[in-house]
Order: sequence, then structure tokens, then C-alpha cells
Amino acid sequence: EKGGYDHFMLKEIFEQPQTIYDCLRGRLDATAGTITMSGVEKYAEQIMNANRIVMVACGTSWHAGLVAEYIFEELCRINVEVEYASEFRYRNPVINKGDVIIAISQSGETADTLVAIENAKAKGAIILGVVNVVGSSIARISDAGAYTHAGPEIGVASTKAFTAQLAVLTMIALKVAHMKGSIDQQRYIHLLKELDAIPEKVTRLLEQEEQIKKLAEKYKDAQDFLFLGRGYNFPVALEGALKLKEISYIHAEGYPAAEMKHGPIALVDENLPVVFIATKDSYHEKVISNMQEIKARKGKVIAIITEGDEHSTALANDVIVVPEADEIVAPMLSTIPTQLLAYYIGVAKDFDVDKPRNLAKSVTVE
Ligand code: M6R
Repeated sequence: EKGGYDHFMLKEIFEQPQTIYDCLRGRLDATAGTITMSGVEKYAEQIMNANRIVMVACGTSWHAGLVAEYIFEELCRINVEVEYASEFRYRNPVINKGDVIIAISQSGETADTLVAIENAKAKGAIILGVVNVVGSSIARISDAGAYTHAGPEIGVASTKAFTAQLAVLTMIALKVAHMKGSIDQQRYIHLLKELDAIPEKVTRLLEQEEQIKKLAEKYKDAQDFLFLGRGYNFPVALEGALKLKEISYIHAEGYPAAEMKHGPIALVDENLPVVFIATKDSYHEKVISNMQEIKARKGKVIAIITEGDEHSTALANDVIVVPEADEIVAPMLSTIPTQLLAYYIGVAKDFDVDKPRNLAKSVTVE
């Protein structure tokens, strides 16, 4: 049942070329220039004219919402807020009739997310679900939505569900932007093609498994880790840190790279590995200067960079390259090395990576 892999987590990491493909299939047609999503089409007017969109989720799904915030604001020019479901449900949030809420959940059973959207629905919000498990509670209570079609995720740490969430959310954003006319046709078509090319790029990226395994050996005894990124890669940093905590029990924090100088940089010394998500995008130069700040304090830099961009990261102690991609879709690639790093550190420490201590696959209690 593990398909020849040692663990479900590794199997699920390696399924990603297929799961992302399955998620795009039947929806995205890059040649025709179309995205077919009936749920979104049904609420097209409301979404396009929404004053704001609120993403509600927990854990990894919340990180997907954060990436989507950057994408929606850029492409659709709609204000987006991303909320932890547990906070949103209890703080008497201001919800106006016609607000659009996107609930993101792999299991579709997370108690906090479920109650948060029940409350919002009662106040007249439109609920769209981005859910993996077909027929789950969140899928059923949503007014419409789009399944992620990643197949069953058994490993407690979410991997393939996350990249599928990113694929679905990106398609929704592109669909809305196209309907609204907030991006030009050329950029729209370019992004459809970029999205279409992701599964093949993930396959290429996974070829670096051995190299990442070696890095895991090298850094497995670290006490702490930092993950830094900016823009679309800031949530990828948060997700990388969460994965490492869950699987290897190493304390890790994710930060927007520029926040370092407001406090956390005090932690940096020669024992601290710092993973930079530093793919080539509009934030790149800024990230490189943040890397210099870490280097000057003797931190060990592990840089996830774009193929062909090795010269700009001569500062790094170790480098992982990912295929070139538009910054809008790049998180689907840049997150994968962090999944593999967490996995191999967990394995090197002999932990039960599929069932980390204290965690459940779906959190059905608040
Ligand atoms: O099923 P959901 O997506 O609603 O679950 C949300 C979180 O519980 C989940 O992402 C959790 O953080 C995972 N253990 C992350 O790997």
C-alpha cells in the first residue's frame, strides 16, 4: 500500500507530479485559454464584486491561504484576509452579507474551520470550499467549491494536499482575474502555461532526493532552524518550519526574511541553519541582502534557488535548485525541498514520520 516507499509521507511527496496534474486536469486548458470551475462560475458576480475575500483554515491549509492572499491581491485586485479558523470563530468577526469566505481543508472535518464557516454562513457570507476529501462536512456545508483531487493523504504531515490546494487556489484566482479583466490576456495565457508546466517541473525537482538526503544527514543534529522567505515564498518558509517541527521535533521558525532584524536575528550564530527560499522573483535582490545579513553573523545558509541562478547565491553553504517558474506558481515547487528535508531529518533521527507524536490526521475537536 505504500507503493514501494518506506513511508506514506515519501510516497505522497513523490505523488505530487500526478496529484497536481489530476487537480488541473479537466479544468485548465492552456491551449484554449480556459479554466472550467463550475462552483466559481456560479458565484462569479459575487466573487468579482466582493469587497473582500476571507480565507479561513488551520495549519498547512492556512499557509496555502497565505500564498493565495498574495496571488489574489496581485491578479484580482481584491482585498484578502487570511484567518486562523480558531481565532475567527470566537472573535465576533465583522461579516457582511455577500462577503466571500474560502474555507481550505484537506480533511474537510477540521472542527474550527467547520464552525467558523457555519457562523459566517448564518451571517450571509458565501462559502467556497477548497477541500480534498469528497463529501466531507466542510464540502457539504459550502455553497460551492472545488475539490483538490489529491487522493487520500495518509501521512499526518500534509504534503500533496498542500500543493493541490495551491493549484486550485491559483486556478480560482486566474479565473476571477480573467472574468474581471484585472490581468491582460497575455499574462493570463502565460500563467495558464506556467501552471500547466508544474507537474513536469516537480518530476525534475524530485530528482534531487539524494542530495537533500545528504543535507538532512549534515544538519540533523541542529537544535533550531530558521526558514526565511519574502512575498510568495514567505508562507513557504512558514510551511517549511511547520513540516520540520512535526516530523523531526526540531524547533523551527518561519519568518518574512526582512523581519529578522526586528528581533530574531539575535538567535543567529554558527550553529543555526537558516533555510532561505530564494527563488528568482521580484523580491530576489532583497532576499539576497537578507542572506548577507545572516552570513555576516555566521549562520549556516541553505538556499533554495532557481536553476541557473547559482552565481547570485555564492553566499550559501548549501544549495538546492528548483526549475525556473513564474513567481505566482513557484511556491508549488519551492515547498517540495522543505518537505523532503523534514522527511529525511525525521528518518535520520528514527522517528515515526507518518505518525508524529501528539498529532492526529484530522483535528475534529477544537
Ligand atoms: O484537514 P485540514 O487541512 O483542515 O487540517 C488542517 C491542519 O490540521 C493540518 O494542515 C495540520 O497542520 C497538518 N498536520 C500539517 O502538516
